[in-house]
Amino acid sequence: MSKTSQNKKLEIAKQTKINRGIYDQDRSLDQETLQALEKPGNNQSPVKVFWFTTETQRPQLGNLIVEATQAIIRDRQQSQDSGKWMRLSWQDLQKYRDGLTLDASGSPALIRAIAKMLPPTSLEQNDRFWLDATRKVHVPTAAAFGILAISDCNNKSQQLECGRLWQRMHLWATTQGLAMQPLNQIPERAAREEVLGIEPKFSNALAKFVGDPNWQGLMIFRLGYPTIEALPSPRRGVKDVIRI
Ligand SMILES: Cc1cc2nc3c(=O)[nH]c(=O)nc-3n(C[C@H](O)[C@H](O)[C@H](O)COP(=O)(O)O)c2cc1C
Repeated sequence: MSKTSQNKKLEIAKQTKINRGIYDQDRSLDQETLQALEKPGNNQSPVKVFWFTTETQRPQLGNLIVEATQAIIRDRQQSQDSGKWMRLSWQDLQKYRDGLTLDASGSPALIRAIAKMLPPTSLEQNDRFWLDATRKVHVPTAAAFGILAISDCNNKSQQLECGRLWQRMHLWATTQGLAMQPLNQIPERAAREEVLGIEPKFSNALAKFVGDPNWQGLMIFRLGYPTIEALPSPRRGVKDVIRI
């Protein structure tokens, strides 16, 4: 690879960030863009993308995402486990260098500035903010939703391939000025139902959306044209994550 194309790839990778802001509701996605997005997955890829783009499909899947968010919040243990990823103080951010931050929340600059000056919010307040953002921003402003599916959700190698396709799609989407955000509440809730041995409500609903018994939904995301530029998430240094 030449130095120029290597630098270009690095530049795109640096700009690729989860965008949790409002997406432009006046811009839809054409079929060509969706097909090109799937391209990074080659013919041997064990991952298939199911798209939800129409006026009828989007609210149907969107409503289930909101319901799954509510179910996670009602489940004290799951809510606490999700809450552990929040990095609301400067100290926590510096200590862990990962997780969900105010900067990456997609909120306007003034709100972020005020929130940083106030004491960290409670789990209940964070959950309320999350549900509100899901219901009022993430779901209704999505131009499309996608479900990444594999044939066996418990197969580790397929899970890895799913993550690789997601990363490549996100890189390519960035080159096209598109924004993406995983909205994985439904699969997370389906996994929780399995652990608890309770009625597989979200698992069954997810299977219905996929609509093909040969495929199991593993990761759900939204896609659209951004109205704000996303800010970067924290990262640990390479030396901190690689052990030789
Ligand atoms: C499997 C998976 C599921 C995720 N689910 C969500 C989600 O439901 N909502 C969300 O806002 N971000 C979700 N994320 C994004 C992460 O929280 C995190 O912000 C992201 O990986 C950091 O990337 P960035 O540097 O692009 O922000 C998910 C990421 C992965 C890999």
